[in-house]
Amino acid sequence: MLSFCVVAALLSTTVVAVKPIHSHNDYTRAVPLWDALNLSIMSVEADVWWVPGDGKLYVAHTSGEINKSITLQSLYLGPILGIINGTVASATPISVANPLQLLIDFKTDGPTTYQPVLDALQTLRAGGHLTTYANGVLTQGAVTVVGTGNTPLASVVAAEPRDLFFDANIIQLYSTKPGVGLEWGPEIAPLASVDYSSVSNTAQMQELVRNAHDFGIRSRFWDTASSVSTWDTFFSAGSDWVNADDLTGVSNAWAAFEAA
Ligand SMILES: *[C@@H]1O[C@H](CO)[C@@H](O)[C@H](O)[C@H]1NC(C)=O
Ligand SMILES: *[C@@H]1O[C@H](CO)[C@@H](O)[C@H](O)[C@H]1NC(C)=O
Ligand SMILES: *[C@@H]1O[C@H](CO)[C@@H](O)[C@H](O)[C@H]1NC(C)=O
Repeated sequence: MLSFCVVAALLSTTVVAVKPIHSHNDYTRAVPLWDALNLSIMSVEADVWWVPGDGKLYVAHTSGEINKSITLQSLYLGPILGIINGTVASATPISVANPLQLLIDFKTDGPTTYQPVLDALQTLRAGGHLTTYANGVLTQGAVTVVGTGNTPLASVVAAEPRDLFFDANIIQLYSTKPGVGLEWGPEIAPLASVDYSSVSNTAQMQELVRNAHDFGIRSRFWDTASSVSTWDTFFSAGSDWVNADDLTGVSNAWAAFEAA
């Protein structure tokens, strides 16, 4: 136990070179979470289904693929807490200095799924590990939780304190505000995304990245091709979270891009 604590203390001061890579549908990897962390990829995504009869948030691509032993807690929240508190080993630490972005894609009804997700985060919240917006101040935690899919924006905006954030539509940052008298910003949406098929060309993508940065928001485009030239186009644009399934391929592309 002591040795774990010592390791944790050492790790927590280590800042890794974070890659601008997001592990799309991370739970479909051979080893969810660890495949990403082993490559210092600090953004992962879980599709979540709330099944009220079971009182469980399952992680699966479709409702037909639900496996009752695979929950948000078992696959992500438990291991993440263990890595933060030093009881679970990880090649890359998770800490305020090396935060993890956890995208929770609400597959079931937004308003119904919202409270169970907040409840599931309670242990991380109680440990002070979640990025939190309270009293007008955004405080970085070891884990930033961003809701996507059916996540209800109104509930996110109404929350005080707020530790479940929103994935905004990067195309609508100027045209559709998060609420009356509100502007988009990282205290509501640390991330803004869109299906890349909605983007006309590279020039528009570059402009959307700049727009997001003007709001202090990070960008992500999904449903992008899996190729080095595509990834390089996003790296060049300064797109913050390049959405990928081939984690080794995209990591190698990033290393080559950085070295060039
Ligand atoms: C991650 O790295 C550790 C330490 O190098 C290794 O033991 C483990 O098998 C790796 N896991 C995956 C999923 O690559
Ligand atoms: C469900 O998940 C558990 C834990 O990963 C695994 O051992 C089991 O084989 C899975 N069941 C099915 C039917 O895939
Ligand atoms: C550390 O994390 C593990 C794994 O989730 C958990 O079981 C344990 O209660 C945590 N301990 C502390 C002190 O937070």
